[in-house]
Amino acid sequence: MDRIPVIFDGDPGHDDAIAWMLAKASPLLDIRAVTSVCGNQTIEKTTYNAMRICTLLGIDAPIAMGKPAPLMAPPMNAPSVHGQSGLDGPKLPEPSMPLCELRSVELMAKVLRKSEDPVTIVATGPQTNVAALLLAHPELKSKIARISFMGGGIAHGNWTPAAEFNILVDPEAADIVMKSGIPITMSGLDVTEKALIYPADFERVRAVGNEVARVVADWLEFFYEFHRRLGYPGAPLHDPVAVVSLIRPDLLETKALCVQIETKGEYCRGATIGHDRAPANARVNLGIDRDGFADLLVEAVRAYGEARS
Ligand code: RIB
Ligand code: CA
Repeated sequence: MDRIPVIFDGDPGHDDAIAWMLAKASPLLDIRAVTSVCGNQTIEKTTYNAMRICTLLGIDAPIAMGKPAPLMAPPMNAPSVHGQSGLDGPKLPEPSMPLCELRSVELMAKVLRKSEDPVTIVATGPQTNVAALLLAHPELKSKIARISFMGGGIAHGNWTPAAEFNILVDPEAADIVMKSGIPITMSGLDVTEKALIYPADFERVRAVGNEVARVVADWLEFFYEFHRRLGYPGAPLHDPVAVVSLIRPDLLETKALCVQIETKGEYCRGATIGHDRAPANARVNLGIDRDGFADLLVEAVRAYGEARS
């Protein structure tokens, strides 16, 4: 079976970490590179977190530091959700690998050039690095099979009423990506706020009993705390849906839409406007089989070994 070559670009971030856990557990994906981006926390913190996550999960791929700030806007972080480290909660191993000597855009370009087949980019943070790659290396667009990103929301935002965090941090980058002509799958709040993992699911994960299961259960508990206070019945696992799109599209309801990014506006900057009044430029995930998603997560942690006390 030919595996799908992927590059992960994210701002770990608890849900980025769980997305990468899901991906590493799947036989369908071949992780070629991991790049950090400034978002949930500073680029230094998201890079350190990316290295610790890859050490924990045994992801054997080069890891490069991304851009320290959005293309034009000042950096915006989310310590209220992910904590001061960007990945507060369970203790993690120190990185077992050196940081790649290339920065994110050059590592992505190197992977695209080397790959026989076009590569899928899974973007789970602000799209700064992806846009910078397209600006610096337009000749490599044909080597990108698809961009599957978590971001936006056709019906609503989360950081403002109009805008979701990843898009709001760097609307200019998202605008470049949406206009790139590259095949795009968008997993916005419309689907990710239905991807709710309940406390009972946390315990199903923990009961698998290996080290990764214990860490993922602790990540879920920490990530849920912010949302519990807002009245959510479970943790909305945003970023893993961008991976589900690749490995279990049968769990998703999807619609082809034209998605445009609002880069101006006092109240609407960062909004993702989805409609059918122009040719579609994205497959937009709108619904998910929640129970099937929860089962997929539990099975994924089982791939990391037998229960150990
Ligand atoms: O709005 C949710 C998104 O913002 C997720 O990617 C989360 O990790 C944060 O980056
Ligand atoms: Ca993220």
